[in-house]
Amino acid sequence: MSRILVVHGSPRGDRSTSRRLAEGFLGAWQGRHPEGQVTRREVGRVPVPAVNEAFVAAAFYPQPEARPLVMQADLALSDQLVGELFAHDLLLISTPMYNFSVPSGLKAWVDQIVRLGLTFEHTLDNGVAQYTPLLQGKKALIVTSRGGFGFGPGGELAALNHADPWLRTALGFIGINDVSVVAAEGEESAERSFAVSVAEAEQRLLELAREF
Ligand SMILES: Cc1cc2nc3c(=O)[nH]c(=O)nc-3n(C[C@H](O)[C@H](O)[C@H](O)COP(=O)(O)O)c2cc1C
Repeated sequence: MSRILVVHGSPRGDRSTSRRLAEGFLGAWQGRHPEGQVTRREVGRVPVPAVNEAFVAAAFYPQPEARPLVMQADLALSDQLVGELFAHDLLLISTPMYNFSVPSGLKAWVDQIVRLGLTFEHTLDNGVAQYTPLLQGKKALIVTSRGGFGFGPGGELAALNHADPWLRTALGFIGINDVSVVAAEGEESAERSFAVSVAEAEQRLLELAREF
């Protein structure tokens, strides 16, 4: 049975383009996988705590198996979010571009799931840090919406895009390398060009729903 974890990053609800596109994909995917299990994790409208000093001390505690109870409590949400990731084989992330990156809630979620000893391992090889991803066999789809145009691969603003390329890097760091990206662009441009971009994204998502 396929299991999909949906992480919604937009602070907007029904008016969110990325959320609407992702839900459209999900509807098509569920049509093909009626037995599929869907879990939604809201990080755009429900705050995810930012990493703080207690989190860092607990996450990087030198003997994780002897981590004091109070530190275990500091990692409880992170443990839960990591558990969710392991429990699903597909990951669907929807997010707007905010100031060339992603909204802070989605950044906070990533900071909670990139965990030493759980989703990546760190060793020293002759004193040089080596990082090993610990997730395997997972696939991800990022659905994103942007106000401007040209942030996609080969676009004239591609170098300014620190949203989906950064997500791809972070997911790869923990072992999710099979990542597809679908973007709608131009919400802040003329209505017609935005509508064309959204229609293209919807079409691509229908195709991907057949592959996922
Ligand atoms: C705080 C904020 C920052 C934004 N920064 C950018 C940006 O850097 N580049 C861009 O193209 N659009 C930017 N936008 C526009 C959004 O990316 C665009 O409206 C997007 O479609 C919103 O996605 P959503 O409808 O899923 O919430 C920004 C919007 C907001 C509210």
